[in-house]
Amino acid sequence: MRRPMAVMAGAAATLLLTAAAPMLRGGWAILTVHELPESVVVGEATTLTFSLRQHGEELLAGRAPVVHLRTGGLLGERQRVAAERTRQPGVYRATFTPSDGDALHLRVDTDFNGWDVELLPIPVRSGRGAVVTNAAGPARGSRPAVAASGPDRGRTLFVAKGCIGCHVKADDPMLRDYQEMRVGPELTGRSFPVDFLVQKMTDAASLRPAQPRFGARQAVMPQLEVSEAEARAIASYLNARSVASRD
Ligand code: HEC
Repeated sequence: MRRPMAVMAGAAATLLLTAAAPMLRGGWAILTVHELPESVVVGEATTLTFSLRQHGEELLAGRAPVVHLRTGGLLGERQRVAAERTRQPGVYRATFTPSDGDALHLRVDTDFNGWDVELLPIPVRSGRGAVVTNAAGPARGSRPAVAASGPDRGRTLFVAKGCIGCHVKADDPMLRDYQEMRVGPELTGRSFPVDFLVQKMTDAASLRPAQPRFGARQAVMPQLEVSEAEARAIASYLNARSVASRD
């Protein structure tokens, strides 16, 4: 069974199940992957840099997150990589080398109240060194990159940037298993002008509403690490009406 979901354990789960947003207190964190690779290459080291923010706001320094990797099916390769701290508090880095498989599944144990975040799979390509040529025909063993484009890339980023941690998007069956967090406005079935979305993601402070709209505490859209190209992919995903009609 596929379970791309924010898995919670222990105290955090109890807290979240009993306390509906917007009054979430205690232990939840937003994971934002910086520059999410579109694909990774067998035998080549990939470094994943990510930020952790408590409640999506303050950067969470001093944690010891662990990245769990799985490639291929259930019997695929598994690795467990301890992330290291960078000089920037709350920003971590993990380097790994996939050795097989065609899809990389990543789960990050944030080391914060049992809070785990599972990313959507990233395509794995076989590297040049893995290409096998023989007289009988074209190169075998080389797989073309199946780079996700537009809305699909946007969906992967919607999870990897942490948007899913605050916004419900119930019209996408592929996000069904994620915990419903209602810290920000629900985005189900909604579309927005692209420029507004890109600005909201790349310069959140410039578009803050005068009145916080959610609950007792001030909930504002945080500034996350999202490049303009990434914001455009997420915008195309959010505005893709077909997501709604697929269900
Ligand atoms: C920590 C929680 C949090 C995260 C993470 C977050 N948002 Fe938000 N978002 C909010 C809140 C709260 C608001 C409403 C207040 C505001 O606009 O600042 C909001 C507003 C928005 C709006 C405007 C909705 C409207 O009705 O006007 C959009 C669109 C949006 N977010 C998209 C995103 C996307 C895309 C991401 C990921 C890159 C993201 N958000 C990440 C909390 C979050």
